[in-house]
Amino acid sequence: MSVIVPPEARSAAPPAVVANNLVKVYGSGDAAVHALKDVSVGFETGAFTAIMGPSGSGKSTLMHCLAGLDTATRGVVRIGDTDITTLKDKELTLLRRDRIGFIFQAFNLLPTLTAEQNIRLPLEIAGRKADEALFNRVVDTVGLRDRLRHRPTELSGGQQQRVAVARALISRPQVIFADEPTGNLDSRSGAEVLSFLRTSVRELGQTIVMVTHDPVAASYADRVVFLRDGELVSELHGPTPQSVHDTLMKLEA
Ligand SMILES: Nc1ncnc2c1ncn2[C@@H]1O[C@H](COP(=O)(O)OP(=O)(O)OP(=O)(O)O)[C@@H](O)[C@H]1O
Ligand SMILES: [Mg+2]
Repeated sequence: MSVIVPPEARSAAPPAVVANNLVKVYGSGDAAVHALKDVSVGFETGAFTAIMGPSGSGKSTLMHCLAGLDTATRGVVRIGDTDITTLKDKELTLLRRDRIGFIFQAFNLLPTLTAEQNIRLPLEIAGRKADEALFNRVVDTVGLRDRLRHRPTELSGGQQQRVAVARALISRPQVIFADEPTGNLDSRSGAEVLSFLRTSVRELGQTIVMVTHDPVAASYADRVVFLRDGELVSELHGPTPQSVHDTLMKLEA
């Protein structure tokens, strides 16, 4: 059973995540670093967006502010219709738990748990029941059916990251944030993980925002937004590795 989300339904939906006039200053006085300078950007529901830019341009800072892992100095972030900048710590923790999925460069799996236990952990912590049909579908799509009883050390890097992707998908979060999800993988395992992210957007209508340095990884996205020195400077729709590469070259020049 595959649920294809038609393009017109996607664009009609309100954006999953919006940042308005986001400013992030680290430190103060002479030591102040203006990591984000008035960034406004929206991330469409059911779309796969990549964030790119030179090292130090503010990609991780933007993602952390969008995901409620860090607080912006000024500006507003909305996840769906919730303004997360006004939430108290406890509310923010619950929002992250219930509505956001995370995938990091380091897979962050618990070593003593099996693949299946790792995938189910966030739902268990939240006291929610897994959607078993979705669990089976996700496990088959990521190709982990015969690895469910293995522990992380018994899995390859690509397989471990696929467990992390399955874990993020299983709770149907409103948005998944991924920071360099293929940074630790060889190109073949990276391609496996990216195809799976792509499939989850197409077939499950998942919304994904991914930070990456890699033009090939970015080309799996529907859209790429480019940061330079804390400002949004460019974007591409329907990116190819070449068009992403060319845009980066111009930014770094
Ligand atoms: N905790 C912090 N304290 C002070 N400055 C910081 C802090 N975190 C980041 N910065 C600075 O903010 C700017 C943006 O950093 P950020 O980590 O967002 O960049 P990035 O685009 O993710 O870079 P990279 O590609 O190297 O991961 C940099 O100049 C960085 O030195
Ligand atoms: Mg970074």
